[in-house]
Amino acid sequence: MSHTEPTRIKTLKSPKGHMLLGHLPQFNVPNKHQVLERWVDECGDLFKINFVGKVFVVSARPSFNNVLLRQRPEVFRRFSKIDEILKEMGVIGVFNAEGDDWKRHRKPIAEALNVQNIKRFYPVLLSKTRTILKKFQGYSENQSVVDVQKEFMAFTIDITTEIAFGHKLDTIRNKGDRFQKHLEIIFPMINSRITAPIPIWRFIKSKKDKALEASLKSIESMIYQFIDDAKVRIENNKSLYDAPSNFLEALLVGNKNKHFTDKEVYGNVFTMLLAGEDTTSNSISWAMFYLSQHPEIVTKIREEAYECYPNEEVPDTYDVLVQLKYTNAVVQETIRLKPTTPQLYFEANRDTIIEDIEIPKGTKIILQNKVAQTNDNYFSAPDSFSPERWLQECPMHKNHEPSVIKTFGGGPRYCPGMQLAITEMMILISTLCKHFDFELAVNPEDIVEQFEFTMFPKNLMIKFKAIKNSL
Ligand code: HEM
Repeated sequence: MSHTEPTRIKTLKSPKGHMLLGHLPQFNVPNKHQVLERWVDECGDLFKINFVGKVFVVSARPSFNNVLLRQRPEVFRRFSKIDEILKEMGVIGVFNAEGDDWKRHRKPIAEALNVQNIKRFYPVLLSKTRTILKKFQGYSENQSVVDVQKEFMAFTIDITTEIAFGHKLDTIRNKGDRFQKHLEIIFPMINSRITAPIPIWRFIKSKKDKALEASLKSIESMIYQFIDDAKVRIENNKSLYDAPSNFLEALLVGNKNKHFTDKEVYGNVFTMLLAGEDTTSNSISWAMFYLSQHPEIVTKIREEAYECYPNEEVPDTYDVLVQLKYTNAVVQETIRLKPTTPQLYFEANRDTIIEDIEIPKGTKIILQNKVAQTNDNYFSAPDSFSPERWLQECPMHKNHEPSVIKTFGGGPRYCPGMQLAITEMMILISTLCKHFDFELAVNPEDIVEQFEFTMFPKNLMIKFKAIKNSL
């Protein structure tokens, strides 16, 4: 039997870089995901880069990425810098926990976000959808140009805070906009710190660092208010010990049995906000980016809405929502073409080999998932926005490999909020298409991908025109 030697990282290809600084100058830009995409074009789907001598492997190869994602938490962990930055901000939660500790954090989160709970909380989604519908009817009457990204973020904030923490905010009607303002400061700063080559803020604090500290303080006091409110609810209603009514209560009841410290409860509440807001609202914005340029697709979504809930403003039950097959195809197609999380960062806990690549302990690996999602090996006409490809009867469905889509990650640490995110996307997209025609208020070329904490359509402005008798 012949044994082939594994491939060593130092033999992998590398894009052109600076002699001393390596690839740092090229990577030290806001849109890192696009730099990675260019490098995949230059070097293929597996290559190495270095930042002042520190080596990173970049993989855009689905088979490699699948193995890595599945071997967590044992063989691979998240990039340790993520943990360092989050801990520095006082966040200890499921996203940055590792090993057995991660298992302890993951369980209540996964339960809180399972399908039964999404069904249970569907009335909250309905009420928030009705509120935003009213607001958009006002925009239509006034012929306003709408910054949809901001509006959708308010929608996701209100939903998460109510279903996960039992706290009713009214960000959509601008009553909780303080909360949104702070999150808008915090998200991009987390991203810029995680990817900063030198932690300058530990020596000199810029204006932005000071604003971050102030926002973190405000969010912290608001989250501790949620926690205190939940503690009072539990004290006043002992049945919540056995049957907590939301995620926060579940953590606190566990806390009585010493499962979670107050700091960990805080960290997980923060994590839910961090992981669930921008990702979902920006995905809805990307859907609107396409829909505002494809009225024929809006018409199909509307026809489906009339068929499935002819006499209701919104898809009024979860059972109705799951009948919206075409709307679901629109969501899947958006997530394929515009993953708001285009790359993920990991580190090897021990020496290992994936495929034939030798990976020593400590190797840092960036997974670039978007390239495969838009590759003609896996999808016909991969760059076109064609929701039909998701329907069995479509000829495009023949060359269709959804397993390469890693917008929600993969393996045991895949996104536990996926179902909630898809539900939020579907209910809002179906409702907006039922009631409005819309068009871009800017040139499509002026709308660009921007990566801050997640990838979003910068400059996306839309005009909504109410259709007559939408009921
Ligand atoms: C379109 C919307 C969303 C996208 C694209 C997204 C994407 C992701 C990705 C890529 C990961 C990393 C997965 C991995 O390491 O394999 C993740 C993790 C996570 N997401 Fe989401 N997410 C979305 C919505 C949500 C929502 C709505 C919530 C909850 C309210 C949520 C909560 C989480 C949590 C708690 C984790 C950490 C899981 C762990 O480490 O075990 N996400 N998400």
